[in-house]
Amino acid sequence: MTAPRTLIVCMSIHHQNTARVASAIAGILHADIRSPAEISPQTISDYDLIGFGSGIYFGQFHAALRKWIDDIPSDLRRHQNAFVFSTAGLPSLWWLWQRSIEPKLRKKGFDVVDGFHCSGFDTVGPLRLLGGLNRRHPDDRDLANAQAFALQLLTKLSDADTANTLLSSL
Ligand SMILES: Cc1cc2nc3c(=O)[nH]c(=O)nc-3n(C[C@H](O)[C@H](O)[C@H](O)COP(=O)(O)O)c2cc1C
Repeated sequence: MTAPRTLIVCMSIHHQNTARVASAIAGILHADIRSPAEISPQTISDYDLIGFGSGIYFGQFHAALRKWIDDIPSDLRRHQNAFVFSTAGLPSLWWLWQRSIEPKLRKKGFDVVDGFHCSGFDTVGPLRLLGGLNRRHPDDRDLANAQAFALQLLTKLSDADTANTLLSSL
């Protein structure tokens, strides 16, 4: 087995917080990053691993990403590996925000192997008047954690030789 061919489908509309996390993860996994509008759900057959990333908007992963998942044909191959990641004003509630996406993914036959969550600069509504929540996040440490998460995924999903080769090339 070689390294998993990885696609990241990502929605990041507020401050590009999640887009920065997506780039950090993609740098390790050599993943393609697309928005739901840029790629058809059928394309998942070309990949071994799909990452779903979004800011949290009113308690949920972005509607366009959720619709994209709904539009995946049910007859596409089962048991494809997936991971999820998000940035939020209140990232400690990731277990709650995740409920808007994980059951959908499982219903479509994905094995959700891991997840990553961190805080993101949030200036929604009255928060803007107060200078926002989580200023400067994701910061360097958050992005390093996102890279560590991707490395862990890589070692989990690749055979030992491939993982060693990939790690030594970083
Ligand atoms: C319209 C809107 C609604 C939001 N709702 C929530 C929410 O319900 N819970 C939360 O923790 N953060 C919420 N946030 C904060 C965002 O999740 C946070 O800023 C995130 O990092 C945005 O990611 P992005 O820059 O990739 O779009 C909201 C932000 C916006 C703009």
